[in-house]
Amino acid sequence: MVIESMKARGHENVLFCVDGGAGLRAIIAVHSTRLGPALGGIRRWHYATETQALDDVLRLSEGMTYKAAAADLPMGGAKSVIWKPATDTPPTQNEAVAMARFVDRLGGLYIAAEDVGVTSQYIDWMAPETRHVMGGVASNTGGDPSPWTARGVVAGMRAGVAHAGLGAKFKGLTVAIRGVGAVGWKVAEILHSEGAALLVADIDPARVRKAEAQFGAKSASPADILSAPCDVFCPCALGGVISGRNARDLRAKVVAGGANNVLVDPVEDGAILKSRAVVYCPDFVINGGGLIRLAGLWCGFSEAEIDRRVRNIEKSVATILRDADRLPSAHEAAVAYAEKRLAAGRPLEPAGG
Ligand code: NAI
Repeated sequence: MVIESMKARGHENVLFCVDGGAGLRAIIAVHSTRLGPALGGIRRWHYATETQALDDVLRLSEGMTYKAAAADLPMGGAKSVIWKPATDTPPTQNEAVAMARFVDRLGGLYIAAEDVGVTSQYIDWMAPETRHVMGGVASNTGGDPSPWTARGVVAGMRAGVAHAGLGAKFKGLTVAIRGVGAVGWKVAEILHSEGAALLVADIDPARVRKAEAQFGAKSASPADILSAPCDVFCPCALGGVISGRNARDLRAKVVAGGANNVLVDPVEDGAILKSRAVVYCPDFVINGGGLIRLAGLWCGFSEAEIDRRVRNIEKSVATILRDADRLPSAHEAAVAYAEKRLAAGRPLEPAGG
């Protein structure tokens, strides 16, 4: 039922990729190129089934279309997943090279970048095989985008905190961060420097200990952090965190984090949050900083312009939250915001890179 699933979400292309010699199984999903070539990360993950891998890549790539549109970028939306045979299968150069060759076959329709499980080193392994890749270090295509993602998350969080009536400063607020990896750690750094108290949870105990030592953070278990008393809940691990089952357990007044697909059912869970007066900063708007950086470099923006656009996430979130006052949820307000931009359209622009 792949085509039916594509039709339901509006996907243009899905490419299934297997290279037995290199041990690669991957799916590349191009959701939309309406606004331009589609930039999106590669997620390297162990899924229990092929259906789960497909669902994830279809969902994530659709989100990228909205993310690029909401950030007012001349880019479409795509994503890919590498289906690891086991949780501990390490990345190899052979696998990265094979993945790059599949990306290259799409001729620039898809520009690959990092996501969970894929490092700058992996992108550097890919770069000699295709120019349609961003985020490496050695080949100087932008490096790790997570610092820009983190800055955007904090900018959007600022709008959320103000909308919730918690003031214009983080000092005196408690932020609960679920996942202190690339994005979550940098969010913690900024919030700590601005005087917020931190509560952190991570499945990696070493990261929790480091946050306790460096930021004086308190810790909670990954299972408990969602219902911990705090002002802001900041999901920065994987998505699917808030659902109809646990949305009522949230004690934060604001949800603002870097994770993609924070709500299990965005329409239903978004409405539950609104009914409980929880200010939800829509994921695909607030976590667009890394995309703005990489797409910006691809489009030839200056660093100053990239920074301006990342800071602008605060204004976008503020506008969406105001719109949400007369809509069923902030998620729906964000979708409407992105759709307005998609409807305006723009012809496929020649990309740099
Ligand atoms: P990462 O892999 O560096 O960090 C994720 C962290 O979450 C790790 O410390 C991991 O141990 C922890 N974690 C995993 N499962 C957990 C659980 N159940 N409970 C608590 N902690 C858990 O990934 P990164 O790059 O920081 O990305 C985090 C999220 O932000 C992902 O959802 C990603 O898709 C999203 N994102 C990342 C961007 C980037 O620039 N890196 C851009 C936009 C979105």
